[in-house]
Amino acid sequence: MRRKLVCGNWKMNGSLVSNAVLLAGIKAGLSQSSCDVAVCVPAVYLAQCQSALTGSGLSWGAQDVSAHASGAYTGEISVSMLQDFSCEYVILGHSERRAYHGESDALVALKMQRVIQSGLTPVVCVGESLAERESGQTEAVVSAQMDVLLAAIDAADLAKMVIAYEPVWAIGTGKTATPEMAQDVHAILRAKLGQKNGELAQAVRILYGGSMKPDNARELLAMPDIDGGLIGGAALNSADFLAIVHFA
Ligand code: PGA
Repeated sequence: MRRKLVCGNWKMNGSLVSNAVLLAGIKAGLSQSSCDVAVCVPAVYLAQCQSALTGSGLSWGAQDVSAHASGAYTGEISVSMLQDFSCEYVILGHSERRAYHGESDALVALKMQRVIQSGLTPVVCVGESLAERESGQTEAVVSAQMDVLLAAIDAADLAKMVIAYEPVWAIGTGKTATPEMAQDVHAILRAKLGQKNGELAQAVRILYGGSMKPDNARELLAMPDIDGGLIGGAALNSADFLAIVHFA
């Protein structure tokens, strides 16, 4: 039985003051959560998360990390730096990183290797654009993304990764994949994982992301291969985020 994970992706939002309110609100409502819950915040706020959330049952993480261990990489943040702040998760290959920062599947795979080696959990994003969906290429696109990731991971490490299926056309648009559309892709992703290791593929959590909100989360999270959510906009409001956690 896979334990569901609800992971907030704050993107480039927040301030010390507003984060304190948001984190306190989430913490206050979290007590009986039976799923894993995390927030992935801008890196400058990881220290704030560490001091506010240690011992709370709410985990935290980053939205990206360098593929390098250390050195002359101006502006980058390493996995060991994230470990200094007790991060548990790192989002990798988000479509906004791919689109605005030119991140390739190969780079995302390198980052994933480094994160897994370090013992953190990568939340690796895959998903198709609207044009790709409309031209019937969804399966080919996500399969190709998965092939690069799976070539970079030992079969024994499979269950250390979390996958997030995020159709690009659903991110921040208010358009959500229907539960059936999402389930179809999640099943494709699990079948790909199964080619690597059938047993461990059953343990990998595959999150759905893309305009998941309190009013659509219940149906999405009820699908057999949807093991949680990667939540953008709705993660910035504690009541909305907690409502999604409740459905998980
Ligand atoms: P959204 O973002 O929930 O605002 O659509 C999800 C994501 O990009 O991770």
